[in-house]
Amino acid sequence: MTPILPVDPPARLLMGPGPVNADPRVLRALATPLVGQYDPWMTDTMTETMGLYRDVFATDNEWTMLVDGTSRAGIEAALVSLIEPGDSVVVPVFGRFGHLLVEIAGRCGAEVHAVDAEWGTAVPASKIREVVETVKPKVLASVHGDTATTIAQPLAELGEIAAANGALFYVDATATLGGNPFDMDAWGIDVATAGLQKCLSGPPGSAPISLSDKAVDVINGRRSIEAGLRGDGDTESTRRIASNYFDLGMIMDYWGPKRLNHHTEATSMLYAARECARVILEEGRQNVIDRHKTAGDAMAAGLAAMGLPLYGDQEHKMANVVAVEIPEEVEGEAIRASMLADFGIEIGTSFGPLAGRVWRVGTMGVNARRDAVLQTLAALEQVLRIGGFRKLDPGAGVDAAFAIYQERA
Ligand SMILES: Cc1ncc(COP(=O)(O)O)c(C=O)c1O
Repeated sequence: MTPILPVDPPARLLMGPGPVNADPRVLRALATPLVGQYDPWMTDTMTETMGLYRDVFATDNEWTMLVDGTSRAGIEAALVSLIEPGDSVVVPVFGRFGHLLVEIAGRCGAEVHAVDAEWGTAVPASKIREVVETVKPKVLASVHGDTATTIAQPLAELGEIAAANGALFYVDATATLGGNPFDMDAWGIDVATAGLQKCLSGPPGSAPISLSDKAVDVINGRRSIEAGLRGDGDTESTRRIASNYFDLGMIMDYWGPKRLNHHTEATSMLYAARECARVILEEGRQNVIDRHKTAGDAMAAGLAAMGLPLYGDQEHKMANVVAVEIPEEVEGEAIRASMLADFGIEIGTSFGPLAGRVWRVGTMGVNARRDAVLQTLAALEQVLRIGGFRKLDPGAGVDAAFAIYQERA
């Protein structure tokens, strides 16, 4: 019989749109011992994690916690907890993940109004304002950075538009939080969700979330307590949230002083999420954002210098991922396969209309580093040369990236 060997993943440098390599400190945290879910150390660690994520999101929101599951779990929890069937929701769509918000809001029974932009551009705020003023939605829901297109939607004006029209403002910050400017309270965001596997240098599987008082009021209006947990005087809402697992009212009861049982908190992911936030705050929130900006600019400069046209509106680009057009002379998937097999470096392609048209190269989390940027550019140059891309100016990519690092030293 073939022996079943222990898991032994190959060494990889993950320079795609995420997941990226986890910080070794986060991996160590994952390997620390479990404690019981009501052990005072565990509940203290949950409370402490709430405080750390307030700083990461730049918010004073009391209800800042984790939803167990990947980033999509955070999105579903936010939307299903806010939206009731028949509510209107406005969604700017500038890539795959805007379509995802439309779909999830639709599944919650919302009447969804998408405001589309051509892929590769952000949605003009004036267009969003017009639709919000006409529809007067309950929720304005936007992705911050859409990794599918690498575009970041400016958010500050959207917060003002939502507030002026009585809407809650929800933001999916999965791909941007930690590596791009993000100021939850200053930008008037009512609910933000994220994931660990991009700029936060952790594994997928935990979704930090933060809720403003206004959002909490809406959720409190729909509160319900499971039959087996109800005490005297607990009443049931007639507008109960459609999901049990993603009911943010129940999740607040579990994370708050009541400690009312809901799911069993994913202990190891709590440790990981706590460590992700801790390492960011230890380095300094702004320092981490600046590090991403430098690495992203260096990567973009290097790729452009190699003769690869940058995709999309560079004025509205996320700091942590860049897309380049795949040259006609080469076989895009063969280049990615060689990067992985020969150099152990992963880069991505994209989805839908961009599948096979662009490569996406990420510089995020622990990989927003000079050596990771330079190695990726050097390897890509070699693979492109072998693959038949003759326009290359040897060394130009690494030179251009080096120059950015020197300029900002
Ligand atoms: C902007 C955005 N939203 C949502 C997701 C979905 O995240 P997950 O796969 O962790 O559920 C992603 C993943 O790439 C993303 O980039």
